[in-house]
Amino acid sequence: MRLPYGAVVSIDGARLLDRLAELAQIGAIEGTQGCSRLAFSDADREGRDLVVTWMRDLGLTVTVDTVGNVVASTGGDGATGAVMTGSHIDTVGTGGRYDGNLGVLAGLEVIEATLAAGIELQRPLAVAFFSNEEGSRYPPDMMGSLAYVGGMSVESVLKVEGADGTIVGEELERIGYRGSAPCPGAIPHAYVELHIEQGPVLDRAGLQIGVVEGVQGISWTELVLTGQSNHAGTTPMALRRDPMAVAAEVAVAARDIALELGGSQVATVGSLTLHPNLVNVVPANATMTIDLRNTDEKTLQLAENQLRIRTAELAEVEGVDVTSRALARFEPVEFDGRVVNQIEQLATKSGLSMRRMPSGAGHDAQMLSRICPTAMIFVPSVDGVSHNPAEHTEEQDLIAGAQLLADTLLALTEVTW
Ligand code: GLV
Ligand code: MN
Ligand code: MN
Repeated sequence: MRLPYGAVVSIDGARLLDRLAELAQIGAIEGTQGCSRLAFSDADREGRDLVVTWMRDLGLTVTVDTVGNVVASTGGDGATGAVMTGSHIDTVGTGGRYDGNLGVLAGLEVIEATLAAGIELQRPLAVAFFSNEEGSRYPPDMMGSLAYVGGMSVESVLKVEGADGTIVGEELERIGYRGSAPCPGAIPHAYVELHIEQGPVLDRAGLQIGVVEGVQGISWTELVLTGQSNHAGTTPMALRRDPMAVAAEVAVAARDIALELGGSQVATVGSLTLHPNLVNVVPANATMTIDLRNTDEKTLQLAENQLRIRTAELAEVEGVDVTSRALARFEPVEFDGRVVNQIEQLATKSGLSMRRMPSGAGHDAQMLSRICPTAMIFVPSVDGVSHNPAEHTEEQDLIAGAQLLADTLLALTEVTW
């Protein structure tokens, strides 16, 4: 049976919820509903094994590429020309159970429901999970999808050293996911990713769906501040070269700059490590990260410049040396208007309440948009909480999002660009 234009395949919501719950058992954080599956860790391997088993059980063509991206397709030749969906199954160290996982398992559900309906598709469907989307262990974030689209060489990916001193290539080998499929990968016909919003906009407005028009720009920097380690009791304040004092001032400056610029500008210091990190020792070094984001590239550059100047001033006053390293830098991305419109029309047809919106978080879709028409669907995050084990999305919203994903992917198999 060929898919008549506009046909609907009903997804099995209970099966999707069961798979989400089963995957969430791997790396489960005790006493919470969250997960810890850092990229290329043992828990990541276990999660990968489970999802790959599900993919193989459906008889899909499953490939693992040289940076560990996994693509499962209904096409015998793999994902070339496929309508692709996907996301990631790695998490931050204190993650929730839906971030990324929803997009992958909803994609799998769409494929299972479509196969069960016996529909002959004009194009294959493919579902992918990309390596190391989170970037918390190894920068940059969206590493696997960046390599998939040719934005980072396999050689550079494999060499990346993590926050814990491990190397991507060695860890990938260790967990058995250094595959042989080519990277960059096959170019899909289109890519649509379902994801939880991870912010408060939909929940506050009581809306079911976000039609995502783009992703804000991301700038990650690591600063190493080096001063003079000394005795906490004997060193007069005026004679100190204290890198922690500068780190604190830089963190406040980042916050002030974001507040002054306003709009979508945000600034986060999410990691700060002192050496030697002892109660009675003025630290020798402070290593900190700064995450700046904005939907507008020019304003993001302004924030970066202001913070660079302010950091240099603060360090000079304290006599502290600064070295700076870019961990990730991605410009804002605008999704394909045709795919955005398609999602909006299908959501309207299904009577879903929605709004168009940008994404505050980074996503694999922003990389895929470099090689094919791309957009995203958001479902609400309760209280806007994410990157937190308490992350939650109501079951009916998860299912509504997955059904809209099904409608969108099937419609896109009929579209020619
Ligand atoms: C990735 O999840 C990010 O937005 O930090
Ligand atoms: Mn995510
Ligand atoms: Mn995330």
